[in-house]
This record gives sequence, structure tokens and C-alpha cells, in this order.
Amino acid sequence: MFKEDSLRDHKILVTGGGSGLGLYMARGFVALGARVVICGRDREKLEGALEHFADPTRVSLHQCDVRDYEAVGQMLEREFDEAPLTGLVNNAAGNFLAPTEDLTPNGFKTIVDIVLHGTFNATHHFGKLLLSRGLKGSILNIVTTYTETGSSFVIPSACAKAGVYAMTTSLAYEWGSQGIRVNAIAPGPFPTEGAWKRLVPTPEYEEVFKKRVPMGRFGRPEELVNLACFLMSDLATFINGECVTIDGGERLGGGQFNFVTQLMPRPKLKELMKGMKG
Ligand code: HXC
Ligand code: NAP
Repeated sequence: MFKEDSLRDHKILVTGGGSGLGLYMARGFVALGARVVICGRDREKLEGALEHFADPTRVSLHQCDVRDYEAVGQMLEREFDEAPLTGLVNNAAGNFLAPTEDLTPNGFKTIVDIVLHGTFNATHHFGKLLLSRGLKGSILNIVTTYTETGSSFVIPSACAKAGVYAMTTSLAYEWGSQGIRVNAIAPGPFPTEGAWKRLVPTPEYEEVFKKRVPMGRFGRPEELVNLACFLMSDLATFINGECVTIDGGERLGGGQFNFVTQLMPRPKLKELMKGMKG
């Protein structure tokens, strides 16, 4: 479906694009001809990321904390002055595992500031700059599969991502009429250093985590990249207000009889069920 120039006329800001899934997506956009802007708090990380791009001359980087509304505005204005952005991927996030009773108010606030306020800050500036120039654009928010269900031990992230999802659907309608699409991706588990060191503490834990996915494996970066490229491209111009889950089916684990696959190997299970037939 993709051609080498599928994103040729696009210029996309990826927040948190210096590592992990943000870097993979930014690289994917450049490989399809886009120019990208990446930002993060750590300048060294951003500079180190440059070598991973097929064409680093198509990348500009900004040391910028998405929690800082003014700084985000300055970054976007500078980029728009040079050439307007066509896309924004709100990918920067913070998260950690903690029993809720042990959270401090600042721990909760820190995550909500990065994820929810950070997404608002970038979205607000980006939308205003597009609207004031009469330009179209596309916003992609990276949420999680527990946006809908909630999840133990990651309450600040669950609350913030639910807010980002509400922003996605609300703005898809409000700005859709102005030619700005707003969509989301809800990834299942994709091993990245940033997520794994904070959320997957031991190999045993990782094994249990993997078993939750019916496909028996974690996501591969290129699978997420393909989806992000599609949603940001002109192949998806009528998709608006959608959240696409990409998790190998992990979210469906609550199905009432799903547990039986954990009880015994499939041939034994088949035998057991055959024996129950009248
Ligand atoms: C409890 C914690 C904590 C922890 C930090 N805090 N880590 N509380 N358990 N493990 C508390 C601190 O005590 C402090 O509160 C407050 O949070 C701020 O901590 P700082 O270290 O000062 O914050 P900062 O330096 O801004 O770092 C932000 C961070 C850090 C979010 C805490 O982890 C970070 O930089 N994360 C960025 C990358 C990231 O998180 N990637 C994972 C995304 S994965 P007090 O009260 O003491 O001042 C993801 C996907 C989920 O979202 C799904 C995966 C399958
Ligand atoms: P990651 O590598 O830790 O990426 C997070 C990025 O955000 C980093 O580059 C970090 O850079 C940046 N960042 C954090 N706080 C920031 C701030 N205040 N301002 C600007 N940038 C900031 O983790 P990841 O796994 O790739 O996660 C990427 C996205 O996918 C997140 O939205 C996450 O919630 C989502 N997600 C991931 C998974 C998964 O399995 N990996 C699953 C579901 C959803 P600096 O430290 O330099 O600031």
C-alpha cells in the first residue's frame, strides 16, 4: 500500500520522538518521505537518535518539555515559520507501577502533567496555528488499551490516557469541520527500554505478560509504524475520531471462557469437550 513517497508532502512533530515507539514512528515517517520534528527533555538522547534515520537532514530536534505550554508554543511557531507542520503525534508519556495507596500527589500530578496536559499543550498550539492559516492537518494520540478498562497499579496513566481519549473524540468532531483529523492508537505491549524498565520488573513477570496475548508474543515496532504511517497519510483522509487497538487481541482476555486455554493443552481440551457432547 505504501510508496516511498507516501508522506512526501508531510511534516510531522513526534513528541518524545527521541526513543522507543516515538523514534520508530518518526523513522517510519522519514522513510516514506516526510520531514519530522522530534522533541524530548534530554538533548543528548535526541542527538543520539539522529543516526537512526534514513535521512537525518529531514529531521529537526528540539529540547522541549511538553509540560511547558510556552516552550511548546515557541517550538511550534519556529517550525511553522520555517514550513507549516501537517501532523502531530502526541507520543511523549510518563508512567510507573505503584500501589495507589503509596502514590504521592506529586507522583499523580507528574504523570497527568506529561500525558494529559502535554497532549493538550501540543494539540492546542498545533490546532491554533493550523486554523489561523486555514490549513488542514492530522493529530495522532498514543493511548493504551487500559484507556477503556482502567488498570490496577497505573492509575495516573490510566486517568490521563482516558482524558487523552476524550480529547481525541471531542476534537475529532470540533475540528473535523475545519479539516483537522484526530485519531488515536492503543498499543498493547511493545517492548521498549522506557516502558520495560518501569513496568516489567522481572523475566517471570514478562512471561506472564506475554501469555496474556493470544498470539503468544509482544508487538513488533514495524507493526505499529505501519499503522501510524497509514493513519497520518493521505490513505486515511476519512478516518477521524477513531482509536485503533493494536495488541494481538490482548484486550479480549476478559472473555468468560478464555481461561480454559490456560488449564490444559489444546488436544486434551478438545477431548474433554468431545466427552461432554450428548
Ligand atoms: C511511585 C514515583 C515513581 C515510582 C516517580 N515517582 N517514580 N512514585 N513509584 N516508581 C514520583 C516521585 O516520587 C515524585 O513524587 C514524582 O513521581 C516525580 O518524580 P521525578 O522523578 O521527580 O519526575 P521526573 O524526573 O519528571 O520523571 C518523570 C517520571 C519518569 C514519569 C517519573 O519515570 C520519566 O521520566 N518517565 C518518562 C518515560 C516513561 O515513563 N516511559 C514509559 C511509558 S510506557 P514526590 O512526591 O516524591 O515528589 C506507557 C505504556 C504503558 O505509558 C503500557 C505498557 C504495556
Ligand atoms: P519511552 O521510550 O519511554 O518514550 C517516552 C518518550 O517520551 C521519551 O522519548 C521521553 O524522552 C519522552 N518524554 C517523557 N516525558 C516528556 C516530557 N515531559 N516532555 C517531552 N518528552 C517527554 O516509552 P515508549 O514505550 O516508547 O512509549 C511511547 C508511547 O507509547 C507512550 O505514549 C506510551 O504511553 C505508549 N504506549 C507504549 C506501550 C508499550 O508497550 N511500549 C504500550 C501502550 C502505550 P525524554 O526522557 O528525553 O523526555
